[in-house]
Amino acid sequence: MPGDKSISHRALILGAIAWGETNIAGFLPGEDCLATARCLGQLGVDVNIHGNTARITGRGLRSMRPPQGVLDVGNSGTTLRLLTGLLAGQRFDSVLDGDESIRRRPMDRVVMPLTQMGAKIEGNFAPIRITGVQLQGIHYKMPINSAQVKSAIMLAGLYAKGETRIEEPGYGLTRNHTEIMMEYMGGRNLQGREIIVPGDFSSAAFFIVAGVLMAEDGLTIENVGVNPTRTGLLDALGRMGAHIEVKNHRVVCGEEVGDIFVKKSVLKGVVVAGDVVPRMIDEVPIFAVAALFAEGATIIQDAGELAVKESNRIAAMTGELGKMGAKIEARQDGMIIHGGHPLYGAAVDSHKDHRVAMALAVAALMARGHSVIQDAGCVGVSFPGFFGVLEGLG
Ligand code: S3P
Repeated sequence: MPGDKSISHRALILGAIAWGETNIAGFLPGEDCLATARCLGQLGVDVNIHGNTARITGRGLRSMRPPQGVLDVGNSGTTLRLLTGLLAGQRFDSVLDGDESIRRRPMDRVVMPLTQMGAKIEGNFAPIRITGVQLQGIHYKMPINSAQVKSAIMLAGLYAKGETRIEEPGYGLTRNHTEIMMEYMGGRNLQGREIIVPGDFSSAAFFIVAGVLMAEDGLTIENVGVNPTRTGLLDALGRMGAHIEVKNHRVVCGEEVGDIFVKKSVLKGVVVAGDVVPRMIDEVPIFAVAALFAEGATIIQDAGELAVKESNRIAAMTGELGKMGAKIEARQDGMIIHGGHPLYGAAVDSHKDHRVAMALAVAALMARGHSVIQDAGCVGVSFPGFFGVLEGLG
């Protein structure tokens, strides 16, 4: 699997503001992480990327210089949110912008807490204009589950006077990669380190589901991050009756890693709601595909965040799978999937959303006849070699 996208972003950003050299192995050279690298480069940070390795030389919290021009985050919400937090407390001003989809992603969730820290930020959508100021620490109770918001506040907190304390909402905890990596790099006084990035669970998810639906003899996906804040999909599929084993469990640079074995299984519909949802938020598109082949209905609730991802993933998945003959209904906070109806090949649209494109590709494998996925090139955002790996499975 390609390197973890969330961890690759964080390794670049924390490496940039640490003291000394950070070497990243297993780095994901997908478009989103390359956007982070380019922005850091514009901010005067020394970043070198060769394939799956990256080297950054940081000079501490004040490593960065005023950027040349507008910082272009492309399609990357993580870059936009995390850099907004990072830049709010600098001694210079900056402007962040991105593509059409990024200009629709809500930023008030980040602007609100940062403003409470004293930040001067204009725009609740990109383009975002940041005037660098001295920040103050806050005690912030997050109204929504978002690791991007949490991480933006954590990065701003490094530059703030006094203590910053963040509380996540009542149900579920979001991914904690920023916490793990900050600790691994020495806490507030960040030191450059060797970072080994595990394979991306969210990329493995497409093969986990493909294996559960099709692999008679089983399929092993090696070296995948299995941080429990990310593996809600395994719990949900397990409850449906899927045969899944995590083998060779180990800890690498503070992150849990394992090899995932899956086997074709008979599935039954389940209700997915509450705590597990933030732990599988990026896997809901492919989970919906699995549910199409379960006996009975699967109900996904508490997943309203899906409407503000790279595309509206509730509308995109229900609409596109519907074109293939799926019985699937959109809800405000999720979807209802009626399993056990055959799929037919169709002309479908990725909505320029990498995870929608890959989920549709797995659905197309299960469908009778040919499918054509419009704008499938967007898989390069998180998984540049996706179609090659899929083809390699025969
Ligand atoms: C991410 C957090 C999640 C996730 C996104 C990556 C991160 O978004 O959907 O793909 O790296 O922090 P939210 O935290 O906004 O839900």
